[in-house]
Amino acid sequence: MKKIIIAIDGNSGCGKSTTAKEVARRLGYAYVDSGAMYRSVALYFLDHGIDHLNSEQVNTALEKIDIGFQVGTNGRSETFLNGKNVEGSIRDMRVSDHVSKVSTVPAIRRAMVALQRKMGSDRGIVMDGRDIGTVVYPDAELKIFLTASLEVRAKRRQAELAASGKDVVLGDIESNLSDRDHADSTRAESPLKKAEGAVEIDTSDITIEQQVSQVVGLANKIIASA
Ligand code: DC
Repeated sequence: MKKIIIAIDGNSGCGKSTTAKEVARRLGYAYVDSGAMYRSVALYFLDHGIDHLNSEQVNTALEKIDIGFQVGTNGRSETFLNGKNVEGSIRDMRVSDHVSKVSTVPAIRRAMVALQRKMGSDRGIVMDGRDIGTVVYPDAELKIFLTASLEVRAKRRQAELAASGKDVVLGDIESNLSDRDHADSTRAESPLKKAEGAVEIDTSDITIEQQVSQVVGLANKIIASA
């Protein structure tokens, strides 16, 4: 059966990762969280005192950074940075606050995009992020653009953080999300925008199950017609 690429883009907190993971599971496809890759770079930069505006430091650091994904004992895909599981630490607020700056650096984007394209060279992949349908895979057979209101997104992120034992006030999450929305959609390099041909789904008032079945339904139609 033909394998396709599914690109899922949208702002932080509209359920991209949850949807993408479950779509990948149902189709038996690989899942790549491209945001986790930028978060891993941001974590490395914070831990090693790398200045993202110093191109020499950035290039040297990029050569030392190895990012990969492995399915953990819980059956979920987890992020590894230089062999270490960083799935938890890349979600910390200090990384969330730094990642938007790091992800505006062209050399970093070039390195991540090259890695992302390599990961999808056999197709059969679901990748989520900001520029997957526009830059990484403009030829993806299925492109999805997810949206949701700021309030809904902040509440979801708060619940996610609480589930991993981190108590963060809603206002802090809202301002972090809205700062990142602004940075992600106004940056010069690969800004977040709806890709040509993308299907837009507003997830504010629908369940994850509804999101997932909508995307799987669209994917199956494309697969069947190939
Ligand atoms: O999806 P997320 O919140 O984990 O993404 C973290 C940051 O990485 C976000 O601020 C934007 C950036 N990002 C990006 O620039 N391009 C992507 N393809 C994915 C994420």
